Amino acid sequence: MAQPRILSGVQPTGNLHLGNYLGAIRNWVNLQADHECFLFMADLHAITVPHDPAELANNVRKVAATYLACGIDPKVSTVFVQSHLSAHSELAWLFNCITPLNWLERMIQFKEKAIKQGENVSIGLQGYPVLQAADILLYEPDFVPVGEDQKQHLELTRDIASRLNHLFGPKGKKAKKEAPPILKVPEPLIQKAGARVMSLTDGTKKMSKSDPSELSRIDLTDGPDLIKKKIKKCKTDPERGLVFDNPERPECNNLLNLYMLLSGKDKDSVAAECADMGWGQFKPLLTDTLVEALTPIREKHDALMADTAYLDEVLRDGRDRADALASVTLQKVKDTMGFMKPL
Ligand code: AMP
Ligand code: TRP
Repeated sequence: MAQPRILSGVQPTGNLHLGNYLGAIRNWVNLQADHECFLFMADLHAITVPHDPAELANNVRKVAATYLACGIDPKVSTVFVQSHLSAHSELAWLFNCITPLNWLERMIQFKEKAIKQGENVSIGLQGYPVLQAADILLYEPDFVPVGEDQKQHLELTRDIASRLNHLFGPKGKKAKKEAPPILKVPEPLIQKAGARVMSLTDGTKKMSKSDPSELSRIDLTDGPDLIKKKIKKCKTDPERGLVFDNPERPECNNLLNLYMLLSGKDKDSVAAECADMGWGQFKPLLTDTLVEALTPIREKHDALMADTAYLDEVLRDGRDRADALASVTLQKVKDTMGFMKPL
């Protein structure tokens, strides 16, 4: 039996942090055992806000190295660079022409990012979710594992697929029964644990690459001293005794969750262990747990970055494997939209 297929990606902007790991990459590593995985670096998405050309390619390699360092096995999973397959941009254009503008005006992430850009919001930033729909639908995945913040983009992806199927697919009940829809409509896969890792300086905001404060996040490449410093300075509250799920103590909930997810302990045992603790006792415990979990990732990342020939080979092979699917889907969509065949 064929394994269910998943597809996901991360933007190569800045270093990846704990939220990316616990909300996305770690789940992919677990899915790898019984799913066919397509995992990519979304570099075309990275240029939707101003970027530095001198850093883009290296950031792509860094994210690829992080995937592998976290446990993605390139022999099992297909790891590739979005811009290495022109099918992504091309399908995005075709989708642009069937996507109503008002669907995009509703996107929360666009609104948040647009505020930060002021006058300089590009068409690319508005069209970002359409490109994301192309990324996904090209590979006809069953599931798309992402963090909670991407849910709206996945709903849009499903809407675009359904619209294309409706506009250009088989018409009438009988035809629909006989021919499958043009594009498969994928399901989001949002694992509850880790879906929203919050900022270390404000437990009501998600941990984010774009937060100006370095102290708000822990990057996967942070060394022990930096981790210690960030935990020492992170926001807490004056109460003694640590509990999950108290809406008035968002920082407490976030830090306990991090401890739970990285120690591998279950919620009840963490709740019991920390029920009578103060921050002075908990912070060193969390620091040690973070250092233990992140040190092997950092070391492997650094070793891979020192061997770019190997990394490039992985990405070349990934591109070929991705192209075998992407080019077929793109041609299928072009055919149904009535384009003249290439001569
Ligand atoms: P981004 O950093 O926006 O490119 O996100 C890459 C992946 O990490 C997506 O699947 C996000 O949903 C996930 N992600 C980003 N930030 C967080 C966070 N704070 N908590 C959980 N998941 C996150
Ligand atoms: N927009 C996603 C993010 O910011 C990254 C992304 C681009 C993505 N294309 C994708 C994720 C396709 C899943 C599937 O996290």
